[in-house]
Amino acid sequence: ARQSHIRNFSIVAHIDHGKSTISDRILEATHTVTEREMQDQLLDTMELERERGITIKMNAVEVHYQANDGETYIFHLVDTPGHVDFSYEVSRSLAAADGAILVVDAAQGVEAQTLANVYLAIENDLEVLPVINKIDLPAADPEAVRTEIEDVIGIDASEAVMASAKKGIGIPELLEQIVAKIPAPEGDLEAPLQALIFDSAYDSYRGVILTVRVKHGIVKPGDKIRFMNSGAEYEVTEVGVNSPHAIKRDYLMAGDIGYIAASIKNIRDARPGDTITNVQRPAAEPLPGYQPMTPMVYSGLYPTDNSKYNDLREALEKLQLNDASLEFEPETSQALGFGFRTGFLGLLHMDVIQERLEREFDMELITTAPSVTYHAYQAEDEMIEVANPSEMPDAGQIKWIEEPYVHAQIIVPNDYVGAVMELAQRKRGEFDTMDYLDANRVNVKYHMPLSEIIFDFFDKLKSSTRGYASLDYEVEGYRKSDLIKIDVLLNGDKVDALSFIVHKDFAQERGRIITAKLKQIIPRRNFEIPVQAAIGAKIIARSTIKAFRKDVTSKIHTGDPDRRAKLLDKQKRGKKRMKSVGTVDVPQEAFMAVLRAE
Ligand code: GTP
Repeated sequence: ARQSHIRNFSIVAHIDHGKSTISDRILEATHTVTEREMQDQLLDTMELERERGITIKMNAVEVHYQANDGETYIFHLVDTPGHVDFSYEVSRSLAAADGAILVVDAAQGVEAQTLANVYLAIENDLEVLPVINKIDLPAADPEAVRTEIEDVIGIDASEAVMASAKKGIGIPELLEQIVAKIPAPEGDLEAPLQALIFDSAYDSYRGVILTVRVKHGIVKPGDKIRFMNSGAEYEVTEVGVNSPHAIKRDYLMAGDIGYIAASIKNIRDARPGDTITNVQRPAAEPLPGYQPMTPMVYSGLYPTDNSKYNDLREALEKLQLNDASLEFEPETSQALGFGFRTGFLGLLHMDVIQERLEREFDMELITTAPSVTYHAYQAEDEMIEVANPSEMPDAGQIKWIEEPYVHAQIIVPNDYVGAVMELAQRKRGEFDTMDYLDANRVNVKYHMPLSEIIFDFFDKLKSSTRGYASLDYEVEGYRKSDLIKIDVLLNGDKVDALSFIVHKDFAQERGRIITAKLKQIIPRRNFEIPVQAAIGAKIIARSTIKAFRKDVTSKIHTGDPDRRAKLLDKQKRGKKRMKSVGTVDVPQEAFMAVLRAE
C-alpha cells in the first residue's frame, strides 16, 4: 500500500532554467521546511554551490504531499546539476527515478543541455513532465516554448505546467501532476535485496553514507550487506531519508530512496553504480550499473611548499570520499617536485576541486595547465596513454598520435550561425549537421577535438554570440591528429611543467605567443632570462626577460612604516603562489598561460 503512494523523480533542465528554485518551492509547499528554515537553493548545501549559484552535487530529499484526493504521497525528489561537467551526476540520478520533471525557461526555450538531459531521461524510460518556468518574465513566450518542446523533443506538452517558481505560480498543479502522471515504483518486497547506490558522501562519524534506490527487498540496521561488484561486506548501522535533514528509519523497502550507513571507511568498497544485496539471502545478479566514468582533463597539482605533499594526498583522499569522479595519482616534475596528476570531468570540476583544496584544507597549490589524454602509437599494437604533455615521447619515437574527439551540439539564433561556424572551424571542428528548431534558432553539430572545446571554446562561443549560444558535447572516440609537443625553456633549462601539445598548424604561432606571455608574467631578476619554445632540439620562438634591480619599497618616500609593511606583505603573499625553477621564479599564472595563448 505504501509503495503505491511513492513517487520518485528527478528534475532536469538546462543550466539556470530554474531547477533549484522549483525544488525550493516544492519543499515549501509540502511544509518540509519551516518558513524560518527556508532559504534559496536549499538543496545546494555546499558553500561553493551557494556562492556561485550552481548545483554541483545532486541531492535527494523526501517530502510528504497531501494531494487533492485526500491521500498523502511520499515524494523522493532528486535535484541535479545542469552544467555539462556534471552530466554524470544527472545520469546517475535518473537511474534511481521513475519520472523526470523537465524544466524549460519560457524566455529561452529548449537549450543544449535541455536536449542532452531529456534524452537521458527518455533513454531511462522515465515519464517526462514538462514545466515551462519563468512565465513572469517580460520576454516569456510560453506557447512558443510549448510548441518547441513538442517539435524538437517530440513529447506531448499539451498539459505542460505553466510556472513561475519565483512567484510560486503553477506549483500546486505540478504537485498534482506528479501524483497523477509519474508511476509508482514497482519492485518486490519479498525478493532478495537489490539496492542501487547512486551517490555517496563521507561523514567523519558514520563513515561513507550511501544514497540508494531500493529496487527489491528490504534493508534495515543489523543486516549484513554485500556490495555485489566490489565484494565488500558490512553490517548496516543506520538507514533513513533526508527530509532535508537526516531522519532515521526502521527500514528502507523496494521503491524507497534513502541512505544507508554501515561504518564504511573505504569508499572504493562502495562505488556509485554498485548493487547492495543481503549476505544471508543474496540476489542472483547485480542491477545494471553505470558506465565507468573517465576524466576528461588532467592537470598536475603541486604544493607550493614541498613538505606539504602528504597533506595534499590526505586532502585529495578526503575529497574523493565525497566525489567518486575525482582521480589522482602521484607524479614527479623536475620543476615542481612531488605532486599528483589529477583527473577531472571538466574545467569547472577542476576549478571546484582546486578551490575546495585551498579553502577546506588550506592548501597552497601550483596547478599545471589541463590536458586531455592522448594516445601515442609506437607501433600498430603499441599505444601509450599520455595525460601529462611532458611525457609525450619525441616525434622520432612515435608513429602517430590520436586525440579524443567530441560530438558537440550548439543551439544558437540564426543571426549567429555564421559566427559559430567560423569559430568551430578555427577550432578544428568538422561540420556534421544543422537543424532548424524553429524559425529563429538552429542546432548546429560538429565533431571537434576535446582539447579545443575544453579550453576556451565556451567563453569564445558566448562572446561571439552575445551569450545566446548553448553547448553540449559527448566524447565519441579517438582520431589521428597531426600533433606535436612544445617544450618551454627558461634560462636554457627545459621546464617540464610548461610543456604542451598542439596541432602542427598552430605550433609556430602558439610558441610565439607563449614566450611573449611568459615574458610578461615572470618577474624580472638581476640577470637576463631567455624564454624559448622548442620542438625537440629546434627553437621555434624566443623572448627575453630583461635584467632588473629594484626594491619595491624604495618608491615610497613617506617613510610610513605601516604602508611599507603592507606593501611588503602584499609582495610576500603574491610570492606564495610562486615556484622557484632553477634560478627563475615562476608564478602560478605562468602555468596556465598556455590556455590563453591565442
Ligand atoms: P543550476 O543549479 O546552476 O543548474 O541552475 P538551476 O536550473 O537550478 O536554476 P536556479 O533555480 O538556480 O535559477 C536560476 C536563476 O533563475 C536564479 O536567479 C533564479 O532566481 C531565477 N529563476 C528561477 N525561477 C524563476 C522564475 O520563475 N522567474 C524568474 N523571473 N526567475 C526565476
